[in-house]
Amino acid sequence: MVSFAKGVIAMSLPKVYVGLPIQDAGLEILQGKVDFRVWDKEGAPPRDLLFSELKDAEGLLSGLPIKVDAELLGAAPKLKVVSNYAVGFDNIDVAEATRRGICVTNTPEVLTAATADTTFALILASARRIMEANAFLRSGEWKVWHPELMVGRQVAGSTIGIVGLGQIGYEVAKRAKGFDMEILYFDVRPNPEAESRFGAKFVKLDELLRESDFVTLHCNLNDSTRGLIGEKELRSMKKTAILINAARGPLVDQEMLYKACKENWIWGAGLDVYNKEPVPLDEPLLTLSNVTTFPHIASATRTARNGMAVRSAENLLAVLQGNKPRDLVNKEVWK
Ligand SMILES: NC(=O)c1ccc[n+]([C@@H]2O[C@H](COP(=O)([O-])OP(=O)(O)OC[C@H]3O[C@@H](n4cnc5c(N)ncnc54)[C@H](O)[C@@H]3O)[C@@H](O)[C@H]2O)c1
Repeated sequence: MVSFAKGVIAMSLPKVYVGLPIQDAGLEILQGKVDFRVWDKEGAPPRDLLFSELKDAEGLLSGLPIKVDAELLGAAPKLKVVSNYAVGFDNIDVAEATRRGICVTNTPEVLTAATADTTFALILASARRIMEANAFLRSGEWKVWHPELMVGRQVAGSTIGIVGLGQIGYEVAKRAKGFDMEILYFDVRPNPEAESRFGAKFVKLDELLRESDFVTLHCNLNDSTRGLIGEKELRSMKKTAILINAARGPLVDQEMLYKACKENWIWGAGLDVYNKEPVPLDEPLLTLSNVTTFPHIASATRTARNGMAVRSAENLLAVLQGNKPRDLVNKEVWK
């Protein structure tokens, strides 16, 4: 790991706190340009440390474990930029940052392909019972080939319903087209390119839920999407359908999802994200064999993570050098 700049020159550089151990590719960009310190331990930095680091910091490089709320922003009088190492920014109180004239940036595009790949890994793993089959073999239970052994659901030729067809949703549609899937989607705005390239059909959410064999969530978490999938929505899905969530846990009512999978209202679920992360081991969903669970790894490829490190460092530096950052979330702060 690159060590942070120190010494006489560094004293005159803007102070930055890097709240998570991002890849060297990102730290190298900051080297010599800002006076930075890195939190290189597991989990989020303790709140009191964040408060003390942000007393005189002009930049914060944050990530999902760090809650950048009004209280923290209020304790950072010199802060000009919160650069998030993620495309989602629901860990940040953007309205409060905007009110204080603080730029908020994210890292779109660089993690899109990796996240779409993971979505397909969840689709295939859930439909074809991959985790269950792997455990079955290793436990010594595999005694004989049988026509009904580990029979799952066919992905090829089925119908996928994409909720939120933005950048990741678009890449999921591209992969679905390769699997000869019929593509339905719901979004707050249509995506004509996905319609013409992949034959994606824009439908209302209730129709998508009724008609899809796979319902996959790719909208950002905001006031309009929190709890988007609850009891009514789960009950309206096909009994043979699978729900995939590689976006954000709170899009789904997790207790209802447990009931839906346990009582077979739906066939199963594939999850990368949860209401509470890391997921407590007593989470009931973890007891169900028809629920596939990944530990929030959708963007975890070397390519994507290096891209996120570079992009978050570049965005942070841009603001501190007086330039408009490429990925400004709250555009209204830039005059
Ligand atoms: N699991 C992971 O590690 C991981 C990795 C990357 C992204 N994500 C999540 O995926 C989300 C999407 O990323 P993206 O790059 O595609 O973002 P994006 O902004 O390109 O796409 C989000 C889409 O959701 C749509 N949307 C917003 N509100 C909606 C609503 N009420 N109903 C339907 N659609 C709505 C938007 O119009 C947009 O098309 C991120 O916000 C993030 O939370 C998770």
